[in-house]
Amino acid sequence: MSTTNRRRGAALYYATRDGQSRRIAEHIFGRLAQCETLSPPKDLALTPPAAADLAAASVIVLVAAVRYGKHLPEADRFLAAYRSLASPPPLALASVNLTARKPAKTTATGNAYLRKLIARHRLAPALAVAFAGRLDYRRYGWLDRQIIRFIMLLTRGPTDPETNVEYTSWPAVDEFAARIAGLQSGAILHPMTHTSKR
Ligand SMILES: Cc1cc2nc3c(=O)[nH]c(=O)nc-3n(C[C@H](O)[C@H](O)[C@H](O)COP(=O)(O)O)c2cc1C
Repeated sequence: MSTTNRRRGAALYYATRDGQSRRIAEHIFGRLAQCETLSPPKDLALTPPAAADLAAASVIVLVAAVRYGKHLPEADRFLAAYRSLASPPPLALASVNLTARKPAKTTATGNAYLRKLIARHRLAPALAVAFAGRLDYRRYGWLDRQIIRFIMLLTRGPTDPETNVEYTSWPAVDEFAARIAGLQSGAILHPMTHTSKR
């Protein structure tokens, strides 16, 4: 039996601080669970996976948030572990950040955080996309709130400290999940690039 045949199902992981990446991972899980039996997504801050679990997956899905220009450290550690696998399963990578609220910044080439993450870990993801996250000033501490308001001022986003906006395009998340399912059935073999946001 080949390694591929022995592989179980999709394995879903997320790295979050404010919960939006978890919600996105859970949404993907909900879609995939309609077609296969799989475990709920795991928080990398709580449960770093064993290498054997990664190697056994048919596809690995990572949804990781950005803070101050970088993906969360547990996502970096996860990708380093993934890269060290002798025969890594296909990787479906989703970055969650506010830059991706602009349609041109939702692809692996257009989103600098995603592009740099792929380059730094020398990844060849089967799918890579950036999803816009949530902006909720009331959740943030005073300093974070002021810094993010300033960034929003520079990038023409909302600066009202009462702002609470979910920018995530759920149809785009659905499309990502469908492509993950396609990867497992072998239907989609080309890299994913989102060029538009609905
Ligand atoms: C302290 C802080 C720093 C952030 N830094 C960035 C950033 O550098 N670039 C960006 O596009 N979004 C940034 N964001 C926005 C987050 O990526 C966005 O809120 C995302 O939804 C967070 O994901 P999470 O809820 O899974 O933690 C930042 C948010 C916070 C609270």
